[in-house]
Amino acid sequence: MKDILTLGIESSCDETAAAVVLNGRKLLSNVISSSLELHKAYGGVVPEIASRKHLEFIVPVIDSALKEAGVPLEKVDVIGVTFGPGLVGGLLVGLMAAKGLAYATGKPLVGVHHLEGHISANYLESEELKPPFITLVASGGHSHIVLVEDYGKYRILGRTRDDAAGEAYDKVSRALGLGYPGGPAIDKAAKSGNPKYFTFPKTRFKDSYDFSFSGIKTAVLNHLNSLKMAGQPVPVEDICASFQEAVCGILCENTFKAARDTGMKTVVLAGGVAANSRLRDLFDETAKKKGMVLEKPSRILCTDNGAMIASAAYFAYMKGRTSDLSLNAEATYSLEDM
Ligand code: KG4
Ligand code: ZN
Repeated sequence: MKDILTLGIESSCDETAAAVVLNGRKLLSNVISSSLELHKAYGGVVPEIASRKHLEFIVPVIDSALKEAGVPLEKVDVIGVTFGPGLVGGLLVGLMAAKGLAYATGKPLVGVHHLEGHISANYLESEELKPPFITLVASGGHSHIVLVEDYGKYRILGRTRDDAAGEAYDKVSRALGLGYPGGPAIDKAAKSGNPKYFTFPKTRFKDSYDFSFSGIKTAVLNHLNSLKMAGQPVPVEDICASFQEAVCGILCENTFKAARDTGMKTVVLAGGVAANSRLRDLFDETAKKKGMVLEKPSRILCTDNGAMIASAAYFAYMKGRTSDLSLNAEATYSLEDM
């Protein structure tokens, strides 16, 4: 079979990223330029700042990705791009660049769903990984348990009813004065904390794999307030470790429940929160105990990148899915509609 080279472009949040991937599985380059530092002062991503930085970086990032891969644009077979969900201003920058390249070169364009990208990061790490499998996609905007029935075919079995897991990390981090982004900061602080210091609530829903993280966030805030009102010191590391134990615990519990109920033997982690060390350990331990296979991307492929988009575009293309130049940016879009 002919080799297929895909160029993947991602700009849905604060990372301007591009990558070249061979046959959906082999990473040839992965260039990421983040405007994260510029958002720190505001405690979260400022869409307008992110859009302006995407505009500045999109061409150099794509250029570098092609150069690092040693692949001239003429050799690229497919151009993949995130069309949603995400911040529309950012999405438009990547999308317009991809459409421009597709139009100028006559190469096929593939619109990729951002979460489909996160899931596909795993195809870059494991040669053997093939659908069907159960995946937990946990990021700053989503917390979904998804049954991947086939390449490009997704069934959402559970989702958050309020905050996403990454969002809960970010909000709790802000309350503890650890800054943005909260995930890596809490992850680090928790390493020297006691996970049994406090039992924060795990919300469970009857007959559902859904999540809710707003309760735990409120419990942390209430606990913080009562410590402050009593004039007691705040054990930041212990609170981080206990918060993390509850969040990772419920993410793991529901995901493996969904795997059991669907008869899946492979569980896959994806999304920015999949970079969390406790989550990775807990999923490893649980998979081992249950005799199941666990796949997880290396940390750099958990957070936003172009490689995951290039991989997703390859598998979509092989299924005959391409987009025309009328493809638009979508702030919200269900994975099930792909
Ligand atoms: O996937 P991603 O890069 O962007 C979105 O699609 O949202 O995920 C970003 C989210 C942020 O909320 C960030 O705090 C969280 O992933 N995150 C982590 C870790 N690294 C990033 N959460 C927990 N532990 C981490 N080590
Ligand atoms: Zn993401």
